[in-house]
Amino acid sequence: MVEQNQVELAPFTTFGIPATCAHYLEIASEEEALSALSKLENEPFMVLGGGSNVLFTSNYNGTIIHNRIKGISRIREDEDYVYIRVGAGEVWTDVVEYALDQNLGGIENLSLIPGCAGAAPIQNIGAYGIEIKDVLESVTAVLLPNKSIRVFDHASCRFGYRDSIFKQELKGRFCITYLVLRLTKKHQLNTGYGAIREALNTIPESNWTIRDVSNAVISIRRSKLPDPAKLGNAGSFFKNPVIPTRQFNQLQEQFSTIPGYPVSENETKVPAGWLIEQCGWKGKQVGQTGCHALQALVIVNYGGASGHEIQQHAMNVINSVKERFNIELQPEVNIIEK
Ligand code: FAD
Ligand code: EPU
Repeated sequence: MVEQNQVELAPFTTFGIPATCAHYLEIASEEEALSALSKLENEPFMVLGGGSNVLFTSNYNGTIIHNRIKGISRIREDEDYVYIRVGAGEVWTDVVEYALDQNLGGIENLSLIPGCAGAAPIQNIGAYGIEIKDVLESVTAVLLPNKSIRVFDHASCRFGYRDSIFKQELKGRFCITYLVLRLTKKHQLNTGYGAIREALNTIPESNWTIRDVSNAVISIRRSKLPDPAKLGNAGSFFKNPVIPTRQFNQLQEQFSTIPGYPVSENETKVPAGWLIEQCGWKGKQVGQTGCHALQALVIVNYGGASGHEIQQHAMNVINSVKERFNIELQPEVNIIEK
């Protein structure tokens, strides 16, 4: 286990914002996860993967546990599926690449999402019609206060839109070590998003492969999402709000072009990017931060922004959307304040 004090976290996050942590532990196995959590039982700690969904607003006083548990292996298969076990510290895009190489389907729509596998079930990562819950068989985690190793099956993860048990009652007292994913041998391509079909229109539909879908998703993402290696960001800063359809219908009377997608009998999801754009934030730089010019939902660090500055900008966006539409945006990014 690598142990250090006063480690700079900017290189470990996609926002690239300067912040140090008091202590740093790098773990590479389940045993090390267990021993790290045993040591830290009564002290503040936070597990970090690829740092692509966090914003540090100041130096962190506790211990950062950097999860580097590696390994991807086939553990069983049947006629239709192959089950793979993935170490939480595997880079997610490497997991997708492994699946594509082995001609295993189910996660091609989740291509190019940054971060590590271990974080994927926490906010139930999703893109282009697929969420990790659609392929997730189980999650293994070390849990406090008992320092027990627990396997969560699909139902006990309690997945929702950008939500799971790990963001709710287990928050702050677990370290995910492994996932098991159930991947297909007989593929069912999910090309429901119009943009995917458009990107595939040079290939006859009967020839489409999971690799083609992955390439289409990658090209769509590259066309609007900023590359964190060039422009610091953490993807969508806010969740898309889900509001009562009654409220949506009222808004539609006032704002006739407001987009919305029914998600249940009486709830509608509204794209936060649209709300933010309507408030005039899209492409507007404020100090060293602002909402991206091609995707207003992404808050960026133009270089040298502080975590506090980004948090303040997010508050200003929340306030103006609330004032104009009476909708309160909720951050998707984990804001770490101590
Ligand atoms: P981190 O940022 O390191 O951590 C996120 C949270 O999970 C923190 O609270 C952390 O404490 C916790 N955590 C991480 N690993 C563990 C572990 N092993 N055990 C316990 N807790 C842990 N997300 C989507 O859903 N869809 C997208 O399309 C998408 N696109 C993105 C595009 C860009 C350009 C960027 C920068 C981000 C995007 N994201 C997207 C958000 C992000 O990539 C995902 O949330 C990703 O799963 C975060 O992984 P990470 O390893 O970087 O997590
Ligand atoms: N829109 C605007 N202006 C903008 C951006 C978006 O009007 O600047 C409107 C448009 O109507 C557009 C709609 O929002 O059609 C949807 O935009 P987009 O397809 O870009 O997706 P999104 O809803 O903004 C969500 C996820 C992304 C995921 C994409 C693709 C959330 C919070 N975000 O974004 O996930 O990649 O769909 O499925 O659900 C992330 O979580 O970090 C992330 C990037």
